[in-house]
Amino acid sequence: MLLLSRKDILSVFTMRDAIEADKRAFVLHTKGKAVVPLRINIETESKEGQCMFMPAYVGGELNMAGVKIVSCFTGNAEKGLPVIPATVALIDGNTGLVTAIIEGTTLTQIRTAAISGAATELLSNPESKIAALFGTGGQGPAQLEALMTVRKLEEIRIFDALSGRAAAFVEKNQPLADRFGVKLVAAASSKEAVKDADIITTVTTSATPVFENDDIKPGCHINGVGSYTPDKREIPEELLRRAGRIFVDNSEAVLSEAGDFIIPMKEGLFSSDSIDGELGDLILGKVEGRRSKDEITIMKTVGFATLDIVAAAEIAKKAAEAGVGTVIDL
Ligand SMILES: NC(=O)c1ccc[n+]([C@@H]2O[C@H](COP(=O)([O-])OP(=O)(O)OC[C@H]3O[C@@H](n4cnc5c(N)ncnc54)[C@H](O)[C@@H]3O)[C@@H](O)[C@H]2O)c1
Repeated sequence: MLLLSRKDILSVFTMRDAIEADKRAFVLHTKGKAVVPLRINIETESKEGQCMFMPAYVGGELNMAGVKIVSCFTGNAEKGLPVIPATVALIDGNTGLVTAIIEGTTLTQIRTAAISGAATELLSNPESKIAALFGTGGQGPAQLEALMTVRKLEEIRIFDALSGRAAAFVEKNQPLADRFGVKLVAAASSKEAVKDADIITTVTTSATPVFENDDIKPGCHINGVGSYTPDKREIPEELLRRAGRIFVDNSEAVLSEAGDFIIPMKEGLFSSDSIDGELGDLILGKVEGRRSKDEITIMKTVGFATLDIVAAAEIAKKAAEAGVGTVIDL
């Protein structure tokens, strides 16, 4: 069995690898090759923590199963421990043996950013130059890298609702952006961030839309990543109605979890018929993507365990080939 730490993952698994792994996962999901039971949540006796188990089996050319174990212990912050620790166990579909244990926070950050990377590559205008990133939390840096990996950008505006966070993010991540020749700018307002933006990624914990429809220019592509409960949304419903094409990573999951669609649907302002398909449909050529330069395109993701298993399998394969990680016998 292979044990892989954050450092091990980063040494073998690039953002481009993650984007290609996610694309394979979307196709396997859309072809019905993945079995993803509902997440199991168990609360501790003290009610101070929750342990969650996200299992999946992915058939087709992969034939691997696995489970992501994610916990949420808010009190960990004062103990200097991660509040949301995550670990992925990968299981060989031929033998049932656990073949790898992989640090799950890094895996989640990269595979989530790669969803935006894949969608941006598939849907945004190829000549896009300006992007905006909303949210500078744990997911932020990988989301930044994903945008820069798929488009030759000149400038990315960073906006966060908490003052000072955008500037700190710019200072910390400009060296990463330098590798892509991109200038990061801390935006003073949401309006300033989206002015003339060709691509926008929202990865916040906001419960209400993070920008206004009127400020979005024609042809913009938006990745909605943050909201994952029926009462939270980041994308204004007017923009959903204005969009020419709307895609999701997983229809069932998005329609049961994402307030971005659920809230306007309840208000009678949006219908799921306006969703053009899953990213898997788009990759398989079953539905058309962007049809004109001026069309607004939107991709909403809530994530699902198939992405974790496909990414974990690719990380384990690359690590084994490179001799990276710690091999143990239980
Ligand atoms: N789609 C997926 O697969 C997936 C995977 C992982 C995480 N997520 C979601 O992404 C979101 C961000 O995750 P994180 O770990 O980076 O969270 P985090 O708590 O570390 O950071 C969130 C950031 O958003 C900022 N923010 C809140 N409201 C804002 C607003 N209106 N405008 C701009 N910034 C605002 C906060 O100040 C904070 O800096 C969470 O909601 C998380 O559940 C989605």
